[in-house]
Amino acid sequence: MGDELQRRYLDAMGIQRWVARSSRAACPIGETTVRAEAETADQPDASEWDSLQAEVIACTRCELHKTRTQTVFGTGNRQADWLIVGEAPGADEDREGEPFVGRAGELLNEMLFATGHRREQVYIANILKCRPPGNRNPQSHEISCCVDYLWRQIRMVQPKIILAVGGIAANSLLQTDARVGELRGKVHYVAEQAVVVTYHPAYLLRSPLEKRKVWDDLQFARKVYRGVAH
Ligand code: URA
Repeated sequence: MGDELQRRYLDAMGIQRWVARSSRAACPIGETTVRAEAETADQPDASEWDSLQAEVIACTRCELHKTRTQTVFGTGNRQADWLIVGEAPGADEDREGEPFVGRAGELLNEMLFATGHRREQVYIANILKCRPPGNRNPQSHEISCCVDYLWRQIRMVQPKIILAVGGIAANSLLQTDARVGELRGKVHYVAEQAVVVTYHPAYLLRSPLEKRKVWDDLQFARKVYRGVAH
């Protein structure tokens, strides 16, 4: 399992590797824990999701509503154990209405594979639901207007672990201005949710040398999820 994940991840990340001739492929997806029905008894019903989504679609809390094509609510398994938090929609996401569909999204999918998941098994959302024009960084008042939607999503999903990708996601969730380099490799708790931090896939596209660190972070996150790292 570890070998196959590593092979896929390193290939996708363009990192050279040695492969043992005798190595056997295993299905990493099998490791994913599917939440038992009993555990999901108090999950919100579809109407709660619909009403939150309708609120987001109609949102005019900040100026970004004037320039968006559409809001980007979030996607994936609403009962996921893993919830991935990114920064804000870019041009592709603004057009498609779904988070992480561009090049960074492809890389995120490979990162998820390294945790033993397919994209549709986790829940993916951003700090901001609207695209900042020209892909500029989110401003602090936009984050304060919007982050409450994300917290409501988090409370509805009740994930076992949150993976914050990039500084904006990490800083907004953890209420800190520490750099990703200082936050990674530790479990942070906020509102009783375990949060693990790693670099943003868009940053990895620009700084491929950091890919090995992300591999380490993802393996650390898997250990936290399994309860073998704290
Ligand atoms: N980057 C993000 O942080 N989120 C997206 O949805 C796309 C790119």
